[in-house]
Amino acid sequence: MSDVLLGPSILTANFHCLADEIAAAEAAGVDFIHLDIMDGSYVPNITFGPVIVKSVRALTGLRLDVHLMIEHPERHLESFAAAGADLVTIHVETCVHPHAALTEIRTLGASRGIALNPATPLETAFEVLPFVDQVLIMSVNPGFGGQTFIPTTLSRIERMRERIERENPSCRLEVDGGIKASNIAQVVNAGANMIVVGSAIYSPGVSVAGAVRQLRDAISA
Ligand code: DX5
Ligand code: ZN
Repeated sequence: MSDVLLGPSILTANFHCLADEIAAAEAAGVDFIHLDIMDGSYVPNITFGPVIVKSVRALTGLRLDVHLMIEHPERHLESFAAAGADLVTIHVETCVHPHAALTEIRTLGASRGIALNPATPLETAFEVLPFVDQVLIMSVNPGFGGQTFIPTTLSRIERMRERIERENPSCRLEVDGGIKASNIAQVVNAGANMIVVGSAIYSPGVSVAGAVRQLRDAISA
């Protein structure tokens, strides 16, 4: 599949020199930057909020893919959109009124995403499929970078791909967690066309350019 978008999660980037980290990814030809927002409540970890999104906005023209792992995401949509998010994804598990939140994201001018954790039935997203621009299937439990890919994700991607083809074929199918050069082709062959990679791109001693090249080669092999 040629139409596969690849983007790094900056979760494991070196924040001492975030500008260099993002410039390296941009020079390597990534398609978007993924930003993991964690609140220490919905997920055990705490990361950053709109202030950092705004800083990243000033550093790159790439699309900013904001992944909200927070309770009450509807309270924060406006501030992330104002900070420069191009895509805003909420977790179906966090939201009592996902249709309303997705509608608000669109009104704010961003693309709308719905995310599902590894144990969340795919059906919970089916009713909102006509109202999203991307579905994010988590391939690890959210909270930390560097975790191991959960293999049952592959059949979840296949089943979601089938449903997307029927209901909203232009919707992207994004996968996030534990993806490396050794498993990216499986994920793409299962039907994903937007891939987030964290620690396999940003880790001490790893060349961003070399990692992105390996991942692209693995997709096209
Ligand atoms: C997990 C995050 C992912 C993750 C990706 O909660 O949503 O974006 O950091 O990192 P790796 O690729 O290391 O699993
Ligand atoms: Zn993420």
